[in-house]
Amino acid sequence: MKLAGKRIVLGLTGGIACYKAAELARGLVKAGASVQVVMTEAARQFITPVTLQALSGRPVFTDQWDSRISNNMAHIDLTRDADAVLIAPCSADFMRKLVHGAADDLLSTLCLARPATVPLLVAPAMNVEMWENPATRRNADQLRSDGITLLGPVAGEQACGETGLGRMMEPESLLEELQAFFQPKLLRGSRVLVTAGPTFEPIDPVRGITNLSSGKMGYAIARAARSAGAEVTLVSGPTALAAPNGVRMLPVTTAREMHAAVMSEIAAQQVFIAVAAVADWRVSEASSQKIKKQDGSPPALAFEQNPDILAEVAALPAPPYCVGFAAESEHLLEHGAAKRRRKNIPLLVGNIGHQTFGKDDNELVLFDDTGHYPLPRAGKDMLADRLVAEIAQRIRT
Ligand code: CTP
Repeated sequence: MKLAGKRIVLGLTGGIACYKAAELARGLVKAGASVQVVMTEAARQFITPVTLQALSGRPVFTDQWDSRISNNMAHIDLTRDADAVLIAPCSADFMRKLVHGAADDLLSTLCLARPATVPLLVAPAMNVEMWENPATRRNADQLRSDGITLLGPVAGEQACGETGLGRMMEPESLLEELQAFFQPKLLRGSRVLVTAGPTFEPIDPVRGITNLSSGKMGYAIARAARSAGAEVTLVSGPTALAAPNGVRMLPVTTAREMHAAVMSEIAAQQVFIAVAAVADWRVSEASSQKIKKQDGSPPALAFEQNPDILAEVAALPAPPYCVGFAAESEHLLEHGAAKRRRKNIPLLVGNIGHQTFGKDDNELVLFDDTGHYPLPRAGKDMLADRLVAEIAQRIRT
């Protein structure tokens, strides 16, 4: 896990989103981070230190004068070996305190006294009117220009019953953001287009032809490229996956829609990664009515070939750096190498298709013009980071 071994100071300030901070603490610990929780007095109105202590496995600090730190320097000691301080939830009032360099409780003093090398990230959580108030807007701008990273807030229904911007990011998204924060920015300044998932080719209004691709590998690559600093567009066939944070999503259904979306975006891209399992064939004339059984004879379906998106992009006069995927059921090494040459692309990633669809891990082989290189079995997230590093290295040389 990318957060393994990271030392995170997790600060909680007053807000109903404190209940989500419990889940966040748990997620951080599960990801292998060590978590030191510090709470303000207001946060204690919403959740007890006992809960956070149990979840983080460490005593929680709330008081500047805590006698457990022998030199009475909790505000100094707690951040000296930290990798980051994350305030979640961060109230409007705590944002104000950060802007003004307040030091009137343990958490604010600790933020002020943290070494400049320890990054501070805040996840604001408040009522929509509070967030949109010019005073908060000013404070948010000031925090950004002070080098503090704001994560969210996001829009949605609020605990107070109102709807709008102000909800704290969900714990899972905060974990994703934190992981991205620590990733080396190998693709900073690049625009990357990824296709992912299956396509669905209709037969009639209720039936169609599709495949077992879950989209997991493509989404993991989009997430990894974004974490590496790229501006990512993800053209996705129908999947059950949540959109990765910070990625522009273009949902499509059929291969022709995927083709149209890719071709309208491709001119601006430096890298194209075709992970989608695109249907090679579509039904020539999908019926506009549901096809009935009638006399029991099977419907006569005629097929037409879909455009080969990757081959078409690779054949452009000035193509982006193209990466293809090959799902093979046998003879991966021969088919992979041949497919890379046929599609005329610099890098092809081979996997044993039917064994990887829907799974969380995978085993890959990279094919380029110097040979083939196995990437041993690992989680799709890890492989995606590795692949992004391989691509970054190749486009730099
Ligand atoms: N691909 C594409 N458009 C298609 C078919 C495939 O962009 N119409 C891309 C896939 O996203 C993948 C690569 O081409 O990156 C290889 O896909 P695959 O289905 O393995 O290869 P095919 O070209 O369809 O060859 P075959 O089915 O004969 O193995």
